[in-house]
Amino acid sequence: MKKLTITTILKRKNDKPLVMITAYDALFARLFEESADILLVGDSLTMSFGGNFDTLSATMDQMIYHSNAVCKGATNTFVICDMPFGTYFDKKTALKNALRVYQESPADAIKIEGGANKAHLIQYLVDNGIAVCGHIGLLPQSVRAEGGYKVKGKTEEEALSLIADAQAIEKAGAFILVIEGVKADVATRVAQSVSIPVIGIGAGNGVDGQVLVFSDMLGLYEPFVPKFVKQYMDGAAAVKQAVSTYSQEVQSKVFPDENYVY
Ligand code: KIV
Repeated sequence: MKKLTITTILKRKNDKPLVMITAYDALFARLFEESADILLVGDSLTMSFGGNFDTLSATMDQMIYHSNAVCKGATNTFVICDMPFGTYFDKKTALKNALRVYQESPADAIKIEGGANKAHLIQYLVDNGIAVCGHIGLLPQSVRAEGGYKVKGKTEEEALSLIADAQAIEKAGAFILVIEGVKADVATRVAQSVSIPVIGIGAGNGVDGQVLVFSDMLGLYEPFVPKFVKQYMDGAAAVKQAVSTYSQEVQSKVFPDENYVY
């Protein structure tokens, strides 16, 4: 499969749905490459891999380290690096940190959370040669400010505000948009209101593609399973079973037998 570019991603609007999945390291990125159009190095890595309770502690250094690993594992896949909380609060800071992503990793684009209130930042980044993915709806980086993860689009006022967010982000120059935790009918209206692809997570099927956090969809992350997550395997059980068998075989001296010695 040929690596997607901004141009070919834009052409997927109202076409074949885009498959996005998070990846945090070369090992899994290599496994995902043949099925995914886009890999997202999400700041969710600080939860599933870092053991933190939300995404707010992710740092630029971590995101760059993991983006490099993902890009090495999946050399033929479009990679988006999430900008962590607090790294794009004004134009100068946003550009300084986005430039770090481009100068210190081969990631193709960055993602920032926020709607119309972040459009000026997106415009500034795009004007300076950065490819930007927007992220609207439920914003994980706002979890402490909002007092929890709140589904959006429950009222007509919220629906219109989400549409305005998407249109502002498109006008600012973003080439793609993630919409998270939004009522499905509203997410569909949002997707129909812009000409850039809208990728849903917990936002129904009326959008231009889907993204899931890989540790969620492989059933590896046990602390919490959101309603919208389909677990395509029971990864936790499979891993525990394998390690338990290894443990028993080490203790009983079944492993290593003559097949596994020099
Ligand atoms: O950090 C992340 O994994 C994300 C997805 C939830 C879209 O932003």
